[in-house]
Amino acid sequence: MEKVVLAFSGGLDTSVCIKLLEEKYDMEVITACVDVGQPREEIERSASVANGMGSSKHYTIDAQEEFTNDFIFKAIKANAIYEGYPLSTALARPLIAMKIVELAKKEGATAIAHGCTGKGNDQFRFEAIIRSLSDCKVIAPIRELNLTRSEEVEYAKSCGIPLPSEKLYSIDENLWGRAIEGDVLEDPMVEPPEDAFSWTRSSADAPEDAQIIEIEFEKGVPVAIDQEKLDALEIINKFNQIAGIHGIGRVDIIEDRIIGLKSREIYETPGAFLILTAHNALEQITLTRSELKFAETISSTYSELVYNGTWHDPLREDLDQMIDHMQRRVTGIVKIRLHKGGMRIVGRYSPFSLYQQDIVSFEDKSMDQREMVGMVKNYALQAALYNKICKEE
Ligand code: ARG
Repeated sequence: MEKVVLAFSGGLDTSVCIKLLEEKYDMEVITACVDVGQPREEIERSASVANGMGSSKHYTIDAQEEFTNDFIFKAIKANAIYEGYPLSTALARPLIAMKIVELAKKEGATAIAHGCTGKGNDQFRFEAIIRSLSDCKVIAPIRELNLTRSEEVEYAKSCGIPLPSEKLYSIDENLWGRAIEGDVLEDPMVEPPEDAFSWTRSSADAPEDAQIIEIEFEKGVPVAIDQEKLDALEIINKFNQIAGIHGIGRVDIIEDRIIGLKSREIYETPGAFLILTAHNALEQITLTRSELKFAETISSTYSELVYNGTWHDPLREDLDQMIDHMQRRVTGIVKIRLHKGGMRIVGRYSPFSLYQQDIVSFEDKSMDQREMVGMVKNYALQAALYNKICKEE
């Protein structure tokens, strides 16, 4: 019997896939759940569902450290955001695919399967990596059988597959954020019900008192909060928690998917919003005007590469090199005030700050104002000439 490794989350799609792969594809199914910071219960549930459903072997692969250091930290340095979305799901997919390929090789599997539908982005992200790192056949049962969500539920019920939850939302969660789609959210006129959220409080329920925190960055990545040094994983978790309490990081957007479909997407990304806001503030004092402008271009290209599932494009590595070089000076402290769903930068410091208070001060005399006369006089020369010579009345 041919062996297939199924990227397994324990959700509806992948649970249905186990049975389909056995019954319709006649394969031996090995399941693997890659831990990129989903809730503990989800990881445990996926192991028990897999075992209960006849997966011949189930693996839980802990990739949280790798996800943080090699993906999230790169995204922070790049200020990666696509159409307002800090790319949580998109960032995790290549790593999940890499781990599945590794396992397929170890297990001598001839195929890799995933539970993506034919409408989303993840099919591209998974398959792009799988095809470039292995010669395994790719099987996408839900897409191949053209199943709808209610057909999946029906099939699940008919063969005793345990249904994940009462809620109809499709949720994807990892360290960098939580994505919520489907059900009533598909109507863009419907305000997301409070039960769609779990990481963030509504601003009404957020504490009455503001909280001011200090975030320390070293070479573009966060290393401490209120002077407490934390390791990479701890720091991301801590930021999610603090910002979540203050109701920060709820996103409600119409997003342009790879295939061109517009979809309504809800995200909770408290930590990501807090860190990216602080990171931007630090860049403002440490990078030059031209660097800042170019960083925006890099950021938008970088974000598209991530969103589009081309993490392994050499351009992403090229950009990382340039970003790392630029981020050498993005070291320092940002003070930020969190209150009822909003945040405001209230302080920034860097040993590499290009903001020089003594020179910019109204009280300073070291920069002789009179020396500016010539520079100002000939400023915007071309516009002046155009207005005088060419402009019609
Ligand atoms: N639209 C986002 C992306 O393509 C998130 C998808 C998350 N999936 C989900 N089932 N909610 O990256």
